Amino acid sequence: MAGLFLSLEGIDGSGKSTQGRLLHQALLARGHDTVLTREPGGSPGAEEIRRLVLEGDPDRWSAETEILLFTAARRDHLEKTIRPALARGAVVICDRFADSTRIFQGITRGDLTATVDRLHELMIGVEPDLTLLFDIDPGVGLSRAQARKGHEMRFEDMGLAFQTRARAGFLALADRFPRYRVIDGARPAETVAEEVLALVLPHLTP
Ligand code: ADP
Ligand code: TYD
Repeated sequence: MAGLFLSLEGIDGSGKSTQGRLLHQALLARGHDTVLTREPGGSPGAEEIRRLVLEGDPDRWSAETEILLFTAARRDHLEKTIRPALARGAVVICDRFADSTRIFQGITRGDLTATVDRLHELMIGVEPDLTLLFDIDPGVGLSRAQARKGHEMRFEDMGLAFQTRARAGFLALADRFPRYRVIDGARPAETVAEEVLALVLPHLTP
């Protein structure tokens, strides 16, 4: 694939969506064909699945059922949005990708790592070129996410211990995969955005 595939990861409220928007604007202003997308979602079919997984009671789905739903959404997103954009040489900024399944379904409610990895290999099989991890204290993240409110609170409602395990899980992935860069998400958004741009620009041809 010819373009650049970037993923943004981190716990809820870490600033991924804010930074995705700022990076998207900055790259468009520099003349780069850039697509900002998100998971779960990013294609019409995957956005329908998004509603199923993000709304309702925390115990609506088991972790195993979620793995299937998130993977189905990701497969559609990959086919309809990500692959076509990369094929024409675009930068794809993806707000969450497979690492979110590795963490939120793979380790936060018992160890389902092997199941997540097998399904990923079978149905998805691609990894981002570069992953930016926005690291933040789970209490700060949760209060930011709760202040934002809305209908999509199912994972926020799983609580602080859940987000704390997720943070540790993301930091462990950052140690494991060289494609990771860890960014301190507690600083003002403009400061974070400057660091993000400085990390991404060397991966692009001007
Ligand atoms: P995420 O996509 O990781 O859940 P958002 O970008 O939606 O995070 O940010 C969650 C909330 O915190 C939003 O209300 C946003 O305006 C605010 N926010 C984002 N970045 C910062 C920051 N660096 N400092 C303070 N508040 C922030
Ligand atoms: P997102 O819209 O990024 O929420 P936020 O902006 O609050 O971080 O993601 C919604 C939720 O979906 C988030 O709590 C994490 C969860 N999620 C998974 O559990 N597994 C996945 O594979 C993905 C992509 C998201």
